[in-house]
Amino acid sequence: MTNKDKICQQLNDKEFITGTVLAERLGITRSFVSKSVKELQADGVQIITKRQHGYKFAEGYDYLNKKVIKENLKTKYIGSDIIILNSVESTNNYAKQLAKSEFTNGTIIISDNQTGGKGRMGRRFFSPHNFGLYYSVLLKPDISIELSQYITACAAVATAETIDKLGDTETQIKWVNDIYLGGKKLVGILTEASIGFEECSLDYVVIGIGINVFNVKKNLPRELFNVATSIEDETGKRISRSILAAELSNNLEKRLDNMTTGEFIETYRAKSCIMGKKVAVSRNGKEVIGTAIDIDDKASLVVQFDDGEILHLNSGEARIIPGQISTFC
Ligand code: BTN
Repeated sequence: MTNKDKICQQLNDKEFITGTVLAERLGITRSFVSKSVKELQADGVQIITKRQHGYKFAEGYDYLNKKVIKENLKTKYIGSDIIILNSVESTNNYAKQLAKSEFTNGTIIISDNQTGGKGRMGRRFFSPHNFGLYYSVLLKPDISIELSQYITACAAVATAETIDKLGDTETQIKWVNDIYLGGKKLVGILTEASIGFEECSLDYVVIGIGINVFNVKKNLPRELFNVATSIEDETGKRISRSILAAELSNNLEKRLDNMTTGEFIETYRAKSCIMGKKVAVSRNGKEVIGTAIDIDDKASLVVQFDDGEILHLNSGEARIIPGQISTFC
């Protein structure tokens, strides 16, 4: 652990701690404390400095704490290496970069902020400081390429279960991998993989999960207020992102280890909010409207059209047509 990490471990958002006390506790000089705090502040860590009083986190600042994550992990491989960043373009891109050299299976990368958070279909994922959990896990799964298509749905189930438990709530999944609460989007998941053509096997998989944790209004642009929400907005709970990251890792590993049994599909179906709804999907390159009638055992969305044709969609998007009773999830 670096001295900067050690300083952050000592701080909270309630009481000031003087530079002298910090220096004594950590066995470093006061001027080193002061220099380190300045560097942390420049990196976006919200530390307040007050003369004669010392340092504390800004009120409500939720420090991503590696120690707390580690203490709450019950995993065999997810989180075997934990990288915490203050800011990065995209945790998925960071993970993909790591994958170019030797990497530890299950390495997780979490950032307080993403300057270019990526969504599906080339969209952006808003990722401001002290707002969400931006989490990627880098895996070397020992499964066939065919089975890898289940990873996203499996991750959606694990994420939904984690939020349900910590937020004492009931999330819903919108095929294929968005999680909704109170009719608004709470979580986005972007899975990226590299396939070795020679062996026709998976080189690596990156599962990127973005969860809106704290109040939306203070953090997101106006146009997103009506479509996005957060755990705090819906449940009134301010969940520590470090605890959330640990629990998510625990559930993810459990679900992924059981993935080949197909057991997760049952929960995926039960939590799905799209069934029976009119949806716009792409058929032969054209947008057409059909009814979502099922999710099959391969986690594909089954859509029936007016002409009777039935389509099993294993990727892409299904836009729920507005104006139906309970249009949203
Ligand atoms: C979507 O809603 O279309 C998917 C959003 C996925 C966002 C997460 S945040 C962590 C990881 N890093 C990224 O750049 N994207 C994913």
